[in-house]
Amino acid sequence: MFDIERVSDLERKYVDEVLNGQFSSSNTYKMVTRLEKEFAKKFGAKHAVAMVNGTATLHMALEAAGVKAGDEVICPPLTMSSTAIAILHANAVPVFADVDRNSFLITAENIKKVITKKTKAIITVALYGLAPQMREINELAKQNELVVIEDNAECFGAYQDGQLVGSFGHMASYSFQSSKHLTAGEGGIIITDSDDYADKLRRYSGLGYAGISGNKGRITKDDIQSPDYDRHVILGWNYRMADLCAAVALGQLERMDELVDVRKNVAKMYSDIVSDCAWMHPQKVKEGNEHSYWTYVVSLDIEKVDWHEFRDKYIEFGGDGIYAAWKLSYQEPMFRTKAFLNREDLGIYDAYDFCNVKCENAEFLQPRLLQFKTNYYHEQDAVEQMKILKHTIEYFDKEVNA
Ligand SMILES: Cc1ncc(COP(=O)(O)O)c(C=O)c1O
Repeated sequence: MFDIERVSDLERKYVDEVLNGQFSSSNTYKMVTRLEKEFAKKFGAKHAVAMVNGTATLHMALEAAGVKAGDEVICPPLTMSSTAIAILHANAVPVFADVDRNSFLITAENIKKVITKKTKAIITVALYGLAPQMREINELAKQNELVVIEDNAECFGAYQDGQLVGSFGHMASYSFQSSKHLTAGEGGIIITDSDDYADKLRRYSGLGYAGISGNKGRITKDDIQSPDYDRHVILGWNYRMADLCAAVALGQLERMDELVDVRKNVAKMYSDIVSDCAWMHPQKVKEGNEHSYWTYVVSLDIEKVDWHEFRDKYIEFGGDGIYAAWKLSYQEPMFRTKAFLNREDLGIYDAYDFCNVKCENAEFLQPRLLQFKTNYYHEQDAVEQMKILKHTIEYFDKEVNA
């Protein structure tokens, strides 16, 4: 039986600590540093750098990887579009590799098909909380000297072959946006074992300051108070996380196991109900993988049951709402029209017609996916939703079998 609060007294305690510090300069960045240290420890990484969100972390990962204007970066089209948008932020070209029809995930086989001389990096996405086959992707990346960035915004506490997801790529990025396993309303963090990447991630996300590094988020008082101090040694963004945000994220991190377990438990309930349904196909979990179930997602046979009708009936019966998959990134108007805030005039994108990209599996899946919520922190609420889902399935079963 689970029955927990999503935000507990622990987060409140850490927020109070920050507020009691009166935002004095000696306290600034203390909570962020604590979060970074604990996050790195929990994920077995050498470094963690906290930022404003999980789009900024991806952008900074690409800058740290040395991605230059016009370089190509491979990513899946079936993802929240921040993955591809971060590539545009780095003035690079998103090149879309198709996903697998059963797992909904990017594959090494499909990545291989779109590698060119211009490819510099791959952003893998652990979609809905399940990681793609990282060993195969890493092997391919090694052969082609590509940097692998794990976009784990939706994936906390998943494993592959006994190894924690987040420890496969050169860097792994996380989001604390409000829908995620751990949240601070907004926020992001990125981990790496590389000192070089960590220094760059810190400096590029910290306005290019001298005197900061992977392990050091703040400039010393002596430095900053001197009139001779050269602050900015390279172009940087101001993507630093705030201490208040870090306070909430730290509390959530310390409660990570219970917060993730709730979603896994709810997913198990969905699985028990959906397993007998002939016209719903859950995201396939390959052997050796443990899913962290940010959401529970099935592909619907829309030839048998209409997507909108299913959702409407589910809500009519008292269901909590179902999310669709996002439009594929390259189908979004921004890509189709290249509305890239004048970057489209730089010549970088002339050779790319995003209207002509074709990822067949992703296009097949996108209109079919039903995303069920797993964030029920009180078991009774989840049990109630399961009854409604069961009832909805029985209703459509009658129609399908009529
Ligand atoms: C796969 C994926 N990547 C990146 C992001 C971006 O994270 P954020 O909203 O923190 O910028 C999200 C979610 O919001 C996401 O789901």
